[in-house]
Amino acid sequence: MPVKQTFRLATIALATLVAVTPCSAQTATTGSSPSAATSVRAFQDLWIPPLITGKTFDLALGKSSKSLWPGATTHTYGYNDARFWGPTLVFEQGETVRINVKNNLDEPTTVHWHGLHLPAATDGGPHQLIAAGATWSPSFTVRNNAGTYWYHPHPHESTQKQIAMGAGGLIIIRDPIEAKLALPRAYGVDDIPLVLTSRRFNLADQFTFAGDNDKYGDFSLVNGTLDPKVSLPAQFVRLRILNAEIERGYQLGFSDNRKFYLIATDGGLVDKPVPLSRIKLMVGERIEILVDLSGDKPGATVDLMAYNARQPFGFPGGEPGRSPPNGSYLNNLDFRLLRVNVAAPTAAPITKLPPELTRNKFWSEADATERRTLNILRFGPPNREFAFDRKYYDMHTVNHVVKLGAVEAWTIVNDRTFGHSFHIHDVQFKIVARSDGPVPDYEQGWKDSLYIPRGQSATFVTRFDDFASDTDAFMYHCHMANHEDGGLMGQFLVVNDPATLKPDASGVIRLADRARHAITPAMTATADRQVGTAAPPVEATDLAGKPLRLAALAQKRPVVLFFIEKDCPCSRDAAKYFGRLSVQYGQNCSVVGVINADTETARNWVKETGAGFPLIADPKLELINAYRVTSSASSILVAPGGAIEKVFPGYSATILGELSANVARLSGTTPPALSFDAAPKDPTSGCAFSQ
Ligand code: C2O
Ligand code: CU
Repeated sequence: MPVKQTFRLATIALATLVAVTPCSAQTATTGSSPSAATSVRAFQDLWIPPLITGKTFDLALGKSSKSLWPGATTHTYGYNDARFWGPTLVFEQGETVRINVKNNLDEPTTVHWHGLHLPAATDGGPHQLIAAGATWSPSFTVRNNAGTYWYHPHPHESTQKQIAMGAGGLIIIRDPIEAKLALPRAYGVDDIPLVLTSRRFNLADQFTFAGDNDKYGDFSLVNGTLDPKVSLPAQFVRLRILNAEIERGYQLGFSDNRKFYLIATDGGLVDKPVPLSRIKLMVGERIEILVDLSGDKPGATVDLMAYNARQPFGFPGGEPGRSPPNGSYLNNLDFRLLRVNVAAPTAAPITKLPPELTRNKFWSEADATERRTLNILRFGPPNREFAFDRKYYDMHTVNHVVKLGAVEAWTIVNDRTFGHSFHIHDVQFKIVARSDGPVPDYEQGWKDSLYIPRGQSATFVTRFDDFASDTDAFMYHCHMANHEDGGLMGQFLVVNDPATLKPDASGVIRLADRARHAITPAMTATADRQVGTAAPPVEATDLAGKPLRLAALAQKRPVVLFFIEKDCPCSRDAAKYFGRLSVQYGQNCSVVGVINADTETARNWVKETGAGFPLIADPKLELINAYRVTSSASSILVAPGGAIEKVFPGYSATILGELSANVARLSGTTPPALSFDAAPKDPTSGCAFSQ
């Protein structure tokens, strides 16, 4: 083990065992024994993410690095060159904003605006993929209340990795109601964003993000800062706190047990400040609290603490033990999150607590015209452990259909395995019931995420307003990124008339293709004219530099040429089926992709789609033109000997079946049982080729 690592773990272990903190006169004593995992390392200045304001916002997600340990560099992701995390976006309610999101990673990403009420096509869920190198520019009107929201990647099955690497950022919405209140709002001075998370490091000082194994970090990070300290003025200070963890929950409080006042939940202000000395904050949830430092002398210190020791089983991060997958160096401990050094008050301090904040109008259970129950069930292996009602998330399956404008009551029932943090897109809701007792005061506000303890259930009421779409779905899921990636997610459509959505033969409503380009008679005619002609000789190399000679390939077995437009979602979808053909027929057929891209773009496409067949980069469209193919997701079947047997100008489940039958016939094999589930029912031509 490298010296650094040994030192690092020894440091934590020592602090854990003896609870001695040379940096601090403070030791936490209310926790378990051993008590606080406070460290002996020097405090670092808390990083405050920069603000961006206006109507047009540019975000670029890229690779970065941060020196978290002396002499070490940890690879990270950040937006706009942040070394971890990203800038804070400030939106004004009622404004129409545009955000240009550039993906500078070499993998696809998405950006979801967590908590925001906007059309599903701009929501940034798994369907709004931004390819490596591409820019996505959604525009929407800001409709939410003033509050603290956030943005983060949401790509199917890679959310944990990208969040773990540091991708994310806060959104502050301002509105006239909040603006009239005498509240602290000098960002970075008396209005402080705190993004809570933790990371585990491997021996090479890099973050680990292997699913269930790395759900808990060993070291706490606030705004990406290890061992942070901040100077705050001796007056009322506002903390905007986000739990941006992979799975860990927090029970927050101050080291002297002082009271603080909750002023906002996920979706904005509560009616009046709620006095508290502890509050639970689970993954995805935000709170805004006011802390009164006016009685503290400049020079005094107090710590924001995680009082996570001795939680009931099922509290995420409460499990005892130090080793993965279920343990970590922070588990079942009370530990310091942030050292606060009290400084002199500012020129215009807030010294009073507003008695009232706003007047929220919530719906009650009696307003609901529809009820739904979602069951969180454990039945799979690690990393695929949980699903709603035994159905893993599937990109093409619609799990629920909601009528636009309906008020609904959703009950989330959790089995006895573990706690989960449920989140729904599109709406803010009101929690109306919990099975384990009354809804606590600190949850009497607008919420988009809620904790469901092990063996318990909770019911919320919400209204699905404004945005109907037959083609773009909203997500609901457990916000623990390892659970979400593992399939504990579903999607719903909000539509004008649910009766217009027809289930397929298996009773499932499929998500309609957004870009459905019909196959034109001209395309079919061009395709037909080619049948029986000799295939143009292809002399090319695949991406690995291996020569691909069509004439030679087609000597003994059929060849399927699959034509791909690099940005076409249909050819992305189709890649999976051509991959299956290639695997199933093995030596009996060659599948070769032809893509209108340079080698590097083609390599990225392979990475993103997981396509398992050789690919020819054809940036100048030479092959594509030679074969007179006009749009992507089409295929040409070359018979042994080199004559074109059949041309399919698009794809659908039926076409794929027909292609497979032809391959079987030409190769003298029996067609394998291939499922083309989720392939479109009607033929889809793909997109026109562009350079
Ligand atoms: Cu914060 Cu679906 O996510
Ligand atoms: Cu979960």
